[in-house]
Amino acid sequence: MKMQLPPLSLYIHFPWCERKCPYCDFNSHELSGALEEDIYIDQLLADISAQTRYVMGRKIQSIFFGGGTPSLFSPQSIARLLEGIRHGIPLQDEVEITLEANPGSVEASKFKSYLVAGINRLSLGIQSFQDDKLRALGRIHSAKEARDAFVVAREAGCRNINLDLMHGLPGQSVDDAMFDLENAVALEPEHISWYQLTIEPKTVFARRPPLLPLDQILGDIELSGLKLLGALGYQRYEISAYAKPGLECRHNLNYWAFGDYLGVGAGAHGKISLPQENRILRSSRPRQPRLYLKSTALQELDCKTVSETERICEFLMNALRLTKGVDRCSFEKLTGLDIEVIQSGIQHFEDLGVWQKGRIGLNHTGLRYLDSVVEYFV
Ligand SMILES: C[S@@+](CC[C@H](N)C(=O)[O-])C[C@H]1O[C@@H](n2cnc3c(N)ncnc32)[C@H](O)[C@@H]1O
Ligand code: SF4
Repeated sequence: MKMQLPPLSLYIHFPWCERKCPYCDFNSHELSGALEEDIYIDQLLADISAQTRYVMGRKIQSIFFGGGTPSLFSPQSIARLLEGIRHGIPLQDEVEITLEANPGSVEASKFKSYLVAGINRLSLGIQSFQDDKLRALGRIHSAKEARDAFVVAREAGCRNINLDLMHGLPGQSVDDAMFDLENAVALEPEHISWYQLTIEPKTVFARRPPLLPLDQILGDIELSGLKLLGALGYQRYEISAYAKPGLECRHNLNYWAFGDYLGVGAGAHGKISLPQENRILRSSRPRQPRLYLKSTALQELDCKTVSETERICEFLMNALRLTKGVDRCSFEKLTGLDIEVIQSGIQHFEDLGVWQKGRIGLNHTGLRYLDSVVEYFV
């Protein structure tokens, strides 16, 4: 089967934060001095216009303002950026436009104006509803500010809100983790991202590791959390993502389904399919904000062709995160490779009883071993 052009999303990265969290390995830099909003927005607009040739007749189905902390930017800047985007690229009528926001009071005061600017989904980085846990994570907001931020977002009229929560926190018990989830569901958000804290290389936590819960407790937290979220109508559709029916994050779903996306901003990556050439490109921009802002050659997008092995690995790494997996024909349509190249691996995991029959997907047990499953294929 020939490669087909998949749906297209747009990711825009905002690389600054008020303070760097000790567990975070995202491309985020502590802000020193004034935020040069206008200069950064100008550069983003130039970056977008340099990449419009890769739209190839599609309409953008989702936009994600991620970070870093995009909510450090004023609603006026976000409005100018969105106006520029609408000018340069066709958007679907129902386009999902998410902005990641930190729950400090300064940020919350801007929510209403973000919605007026065109944002229709807010993702709040709550992490925990316990002040001692927030302190251990180096967060700059309190549990009360987290709750208040949600209320402000709702009262501003936002009907699609995600809460980011983490579990497996230093010194966390099963009761602590359930306290956080109970507080989250009490607010009735449409979506909850519930991540297990991982210790990433080169972070402060990697250099000075905190005392994390034992595996037995982590297992109990996962089981109790799954039960609680399921009972309240939050369907787990990806390893860490839970949504009320029909309110899954379209942007992230497009990543997991191996769709295309333009990556704009410091350190942003993009994925672009070229069906005519049976090729996939991975684009990237300089990670350092200073270098990104200085680059005058945005027209020359730094692109590399994704090798066959990488195509298999990236496709599976994404698709297998989804609880329902994906249908078999999407492998050929989106990677341009014959399904035969992964057939013996599929058979192996079917025999082990961790694969979903007739699909590309893992069952509940298999999901726990995602990394080693993908490794087996490559
Ligand atoms: C890109 S971060 C940015 C959101 C926003 N800047 C914030 O922190 O509130 C998205 C989410 O990833 C999660 N995250 C970041 N680092 C993590 C780690 N080491 N382990 C697990 N989850 C992590 C957090 O829940 C965070 O809200
Ligand atoms: S606020 Fe978010 S992006 Fe910034 S350092 Fe903390 S976790 Fe990372």
